[in-house]
Amino acid sequence: MNHAAITAVGAFLPEDRLTNHDLEKMVDTSDEWIRSRTGIRERRILWDKDKATAYMATEAAKEVLERRGIGPEEIDAILVATVTPDMLFPSTACLVQTALGAPNAWGFDILAACSGFLYALTTGVQFIESGRHKKVLVIGGDKMSSILNFKDRNTCVLFGDGAAAVLLEPNTEGNGILDTVHRIDGSNWPALQMPGGGSLHPPSHETIEQEMHYIQQEGRTVFKVAVKAMADVSAEIMARNGLTGDDIRYLVPHQANLRIIDATARRMGITSDKVMINIDRYGNTTAGTIPLCLYDWQDDLRKGDNLVLAAFGGGFTWGASYVKWAYDGANVATEQEAVASEYGRNGV
Ligand code: UT7
Repeated sequence: MNHAAITAVGAFLPEDRLTNHDLEKMVDTSDEWIRSRTGIRERRILWDKDKATAYMATEAAKEVLERRGIGPEEIDAILVATVTPDMLFPSTACLVQTALGAPNAWGFDILAACSGFLYALTTGVQFIESGRHKKVLVIGGDKMSSILNFKDRNTCVLFGDGAAAVLLEPNTEGNGILDTVHRIDGSNWPALQMPGGGSLHPPSHETIEQEMHYIQQEGRTVFKVAVKAMADVSAEIMARNGLTGDDIRYLVPHQANLRIIDATARRMGITSDKVMINIDRYGNTTAGTIPLCLYDWQDDLRKGDNLVLAAFGGGFTWGASYVKWAYDGANVATEQEAVASEYGRNGV
């Protein structure tokens, strides 16, 4: 069986930065509180009202195609993880498909909050492993500012906007996404939600007056479950693949809170230099966090590196994936050509 491997990464981040000091002027908060409780210093915001998640996702996807040196007609499927689609339907995937000009692709959106990218990645892996598809774009991105209440200090300091994309292709060298543990538990759903806008509470004067179209979070409840759940699945995926902390090159964690990330790293027995952290610069971009980490660290990654990707989010949703990286980041084109010719030779 071929594995599915990531063969290129692209990203889009809005240029505008919103710093903790900017937020001090908007709500009763402080740079010290935000940094010590979360690790965030600033986040990016897409203020342009005419651009949303599909725009960011498309830009990220374009960079993937460019880095990989392929045209949009080669894409078989487009999966977009987001909780902030441009609209409920059509899906963001459809908007990305037409903006990219990818005539041979099908696709859909995946809604799993902060675990969305991992779930989309696992879904994309199935299409590659089954032999059904050769090139699947998996994109995670959110325009969180579109659902933030900039009067609510409990939430508005935590999130940012951004998107990143990866390409999945068959790999015959034993590299790729090798294992996955995913869970959901809806019993705590009210702890992290956006109650308005769906079929239960369709938009109305009342839903607007009651501020139901904003993200709402009971931070302490989510924190307590997240800190254990993310560490548990990361430890579980290591145990069942016979990995110790020494075998891991990087933990690639969802970026919601530095304290949750630290707890996961401790449980895995790895030191902080083996943890990808960019929450200080981007905040929590929901489905964007994990691929944005891969993007920022891609030049540093080498073929055969063991990565654990781990996430926790609203729902609750959580999971971890074990990835053996498939190419030398500093040498993207050459390695990707190798992957491509490998799979051509094997007639996949
Ligand atoms: O990505 C999806 C999953 N989400 C997560 O994983 C988030 C999990 N939760 C967290 O990361 C943390 O719970 C938060 C960062 C959201 C909050 O940190 P905390 O240490 O749990 O704080 P808290 O909610 O217990 O609030 C402590 C105090 C409260 O004041 P009182 O009631 O003790 O007087 C809050 O009102 O901090 C207050 N507070 C703030 N103060 C200054 C809440 N937000 C702020 C703020 N600035 N922005």
